Amino acid sequence: MIINKSFIDSFVKTTERGAFGASIFRGKNDKIAADKAAVDEMRNELNKIDIKGKIVIGEGEMDEAPMLYINESVGTGKGEEFDIAVDPLEGTNFTAKNLPNALSVLAVTRKGNLLHAPDIYMEKIAVGVNLPKNIVDLDFDVKKNIKLLSEAKKVKPDKLTACVLKRPRHEKIIKDLTDLGVKIFFITDGDVSGVISVADQSKNIDIYLGIGGGPEGVLAAAALKCLGCQMQTRLFFQDSNEKDRAKKLGISDLNKKYNIDDMVKGDVIFCATGVTDGDLVKGIKYSNDSFISETLVLHESSKTNQIFRNKIKK
Ligand code: FBP
Repeated sequence: MIINKSFIDSFVKTTERGAFGASIFRGKNDKIAADKAAVDEMRNELNKIDIKGKIVIGEGEMDEAPMLYINESVGTGKGEEFDIAVDPLEGTNFTAKNLPNALSVLAVTRKGNLLHAPDIYMEKIAVGVNLPKNIVDLDFDVKKNIKLLSEAKKVKPDKLTACVLKRPRHEKIIKDLTDLGVKIFFITDGDVSGVISVADQSKNIDIYLGIGGGPEGVLAAAALKCLGCQMQTRLFFQDSNEKDRAKKLGISDLNKKYNIDDMVKGDVIFCATGVTDGDLVKGIKYSNDSFISETLVLHESSKTNQIFRNKIKK
C-alpha cells in the first residue's frame, strides 16, 4: 500500500525543525546539546502529525534515550500506522565544528516495513543506477567488486571513484582500492550522504564501501530505494552484547546480507534537511524571526525527488 503524497509536507516539517534546532549549536563545540536540540524539535513536530507512528530506528533503546527511543509512539495517535526511522542530527561533529554536511534525516514506511537495525556497525556497499542487478556483493573482495563494476561501466578501474569513510578500520579497503588505481573520495563523517552520493551522476562516485552506523545504513537504503540504486549491508558485531541487542530487535539471522528491499519494504518517504551547507542541500539560514531550510525530499510511489526550500517561523 502506498503512502499518500499529502503526508510529505508534515514529514518535511519534522526534519526542518530538527535541522533548525541543531543549527543553533553550529560551531559551539557541543555535540550533545546540538543533538538534543534536534531531537526535541523533531519530536515536538512529529507529535503534531495525525498518525499512529512508531520509532523503529531512533536515539537508542528506551533505558538509554529519553526521547525518540526505539518503540516510542509518535503522532497524535489518530490515523494510519507508520514506522519511522530518525537521525535528528546526522553529523554531530560537523555541527559542533560548523563543518559541511550535517543533516537532519527521517524515513517513513507503512507499519512493519523497516528493518529494526540496532545502533551498531554495519558493512555497506552501494552503487548507482543502470547497473546489472546484484553486481557487487559484500562477500566479494574489493578487487572482484571493482572488476565487475569496471566491466559493467566499460571503464578501467583507474577511472572509477570510491567513497570511503576515513577510519583506521578501512585500511585494507583503502589499500586494495589504491593498488587497483581507484580514486578515493574520503569523507570524515556522515555516511548517509556518502552512500547517497552514488546516486548523483554529476558527482562521479561509482561505489560506496565500508563500515558505518547501522541506523544510518537503513536511512541511506530508504533514499537509494527511491533513487533506483543498489545497496547491500550486513550487521557488524563487536561483541556478544551487540548480538543480544540485535536478537532483542527480532533479528534471528545475524549474518544476513540485506539488500534494499530487505531493509525497506513497500513505499517510503525520505527527508534530509541541511543543518550546515553540504553536498545534498544547503544548511539553515536565519532571516529575522524566520529561518530558511533546504530539504531533499524523496517519495518512491509519487516519484518525488525534489529539493524543498521553505521559510519557516522560528
Ligand atoms: P553522528 O552524527 O551520530 O556522530 O554519526 C556520524 C557518523 O559519521 C555516521 O554518518 C556514521 O555512520 C558513523 O558516524 C560512523 O561511526 P564512527 O564515527 O564510529 O566510525
